[in-house]
Amino acid sequence: MMNRLICFSGLLLLIISCRAQVPQKTISGKYAAQVDSVLALMTLDEKIGQLTLFTTDWGSTGPTIREGYQDDIRSGRCGALFNSHTAAFTRKLQEIAMKESRMKIPLLFGYDVIHGYKTIFPIPLGESCSWDLDAMERSASIAASESSAAGLHWTFAPMVDISREPRWGRVTEGAGEDPYLGSLIARARVHGFQGDNFDKADKIIACVKHYAAYGAPVAGREYNTVDMSERVFRDIYLPTYKAAVAAGAISVMTSFNEFDGIPATANKWLIQDVLRKEMGFKGFIVSDYTGIPEMVNHGYALNEANAGELAFNAGVDMDMQGAVYERFLKASVDSGRVSVKTIDESVRRILEVKFRLGLFKDPYRFCNEAREKEVVMSASNLAAARDMARKSVVLLKNDNNTLPITDKIHSIALIGPLSDDKAQMLGSWSGAGDGDKCISILEALTDRSTKNGIKLNHAKGCAIEGNDKNGFDEAINAAKSSDIIIAVVGESKEMSGEAAARSDLSLPGVQEQLIEALVATGKPVVVILMNGRPLTIPWIGEHAPAILETWFLGTEAGPAIGDVLFGDYNPSAKLTMTFPRSVGQVPIYYSQKNTGRPYNPDSKWNSKYLDIPNSPLYPFGYGLSYTTFKYDSVHVSQKEFSTKDTLRVDVKVTNTGQREGEEIVQLYVRDLVGSVTRPVKELKGFKKIKLAPGEGKNVTFKLTAADLAFYTADMKFEAEPGVFWIMAGPDSERLQKQVVTLVK
Ligand code: NOJ
Repeated sequence: MMNRLICFSGLLLLIISCRAQVPQKTISGKYAAQVDSVLALMTLDEKIGQLTLFTTDWGSTGPTIREGYQDDIRSGRCGALFNSHTAAFTRKLQEIAMKESRMKIPLLFGYDVIHGYKTIFPIPLGESCSWDLDAMERSASIAASESSAAGLHWTFAPMVDISREPRWGRVTEGAGEDPYLGSLIARARVHGFQGDNFDKADKIIACVKHYAAYGAPVAGREYNTVDMSERVFRDIYLPTYKAAVAAGAISVMTSFNEFDGIPATANKWLIQDVLRKEMGFKGFIVSDYTGIPEMVNHGYALNEANAGELAFNAGVDMDMQGAVYERFLKASVDSGRVSVKTIDESVRRILEVKFRLGLFKDPYRFCNEAREKEVVMSASNLAAARDMARKSVVLLKNDNNTLPITDKIHSIALIGPLSDDKAQMLGSWSGAGDGDKCISILEALTDRSTKNGIKLNHAKGCAIEGNDKNGFDEAINAAKSSDIIIAVVGESKEMSGEAAARSDLSLPGVQEQLIEALVATGKPVVVILMNGRPLTIPWIGEHAPAILETWFLGTEAGPAIGDVLFGDYNPSAKLTMTFPRSVGQVPIYYSQKNTGRPYNPDSKWNSKYLDIPNSPLYPFGYGLSYTTFKYDSVHVSQKEFSTKDTLRVDVKVTNTGQREGEEIVQLYVRDLVGSVTRPVKELKGFKKIKLAPGEGKNVTFKLTAADLAFYTADMKFEAEPGVFWIMAGPDSERLQKQVVTLVK
């Protein structure tokens, strides 16, 4: 087997990159002399201050709030702050640093600008379902434009953690389960936040998180242990971090979890060997929120001082909120356990960023009240958010063309706990987003119904949680007197995001019972789901004629959902995370291994459940349109190809329906025999095409041997000659294939 290996080391990044990558710059470049001149004047305390990040009392994104941060600025005990924003407030704080601290080093302001600053875009998992890289880059770039005007320099995003764990609430913040798609999205988001330079002060620095493998907590429980082989890590979890670093991300955040028994916060292998040496990362590394002192609880550090030494010597430049560097690092230097040379290196990295941002020239250049007024929630930003929202809606079911709503509909029953809620639509991690600025579905549909002469009957029916069914009768009456029912149900925004793991993925409370009662009226029911993760909804999947997965779509959720319901926008999104039938199937993902006894429902002794099929409710890549598409058989340019060839794969897709629509055409491969086993399917390409009714287009993909590389038995990143299936189709299940052979 081994002599069949063909080497493609180093090509991983090329696979995910068709655009120029930004090489990680060293500080020996443009600002080195200036950085050194500042460093030369600093005391050890002031240096440690630059390695310290504190939250202000404006918001809480963790368990502790530190008081007295204004004194910390004055005394130079902290060089960066988070959870404070607006041009006016950041200016005030910056003034303290510039006027009252000895060194007058400008502060760096960070914030969780995850899917928008004030104009809130769909949750990242929702956006990822658009598979529209340009749109996601634009969304990040608008978030950067708004937040930079409001005094911010640094976002703790993108979260690039691949996850196959819907119990884990943070999947809301990622791009789903697939490393290929996830890598492209990671790159788009980094480009969107950072752009090419900071000349106009309308970009912010990105922070790739959470390094590493944070998306695979055991049992889906937040902050839990991660346990995986190096092979799985390299094949599945590492590529997105690599892509983000290759895209030029300036900072990286370590994760709370341990990796191979060592907390990521002090994991030298992850930080030094992989991130710094292999990936060539030259930016700065920040811990997660109190991640450093938490190493005492992990059972890895003796005490907080020891935790600080372990983290710092492993390569964590900045301590987020732990105050461990601030309290103990000086003593660690005095005792010789931490060297001043290493401290200087870390301080250089941070000062360099402050120079790159132009803060030493003008510390207030990001606190721009005039620009803040102009750009924050501007009409064009809201229009982009509405567009992104529509692009993120996945049509899961549409029997009998229940949607879009036609002029045959004269009355609508709008039901459900989320039908008239504004703040919920923002989703978790919604920055400085303001629920009052959202347009609810009720408001959006009232507007449309009035224009179209449709009667709108609204009833809440029940709350998101709890057992109260007192509202059912009103909802059923509204349903009975309407032509169609639109039921808006789901999770509260607090049920996903950080510290929001769930063991049960069904609709909370009595919402499913409400849907059952509505379906029992015999009227057509459109279920609109709002949720931050895949849910288990088999009953609804079987009985409701139409289902729209809308995630949490942000500020423009109401109008965007109206556009989709009334057919002004034809849905085109496809799932980036598998929807299980039951939580018992989790972790579930399309890219499974075959096993020695693959699924066979007709025999007992194989890999399956006794009570449900192995297949998901909705697979990765799945999503419908108001039109239909026909796929002709797949063609390959050659049945045998060598390492020098480019294999061309063609598939003709035709719009067989009555309206224009967009389709995401997907390409998968399977490597049939390897020196290590390979998944039954791996995404290797996709194209989003627009087709008029009756129009057909040939979609072409190009594959080289490099695209087939993986970590072989001896951990080389190589492709192995042999037989491959090349598959194309509308999702990860409905695929047509050709068989090709890679020859030496
Ligand atoms: C903890 C979260 O894990 C991280 O993603 C976030 O950026 C920080 N808190 C700061 O809010």
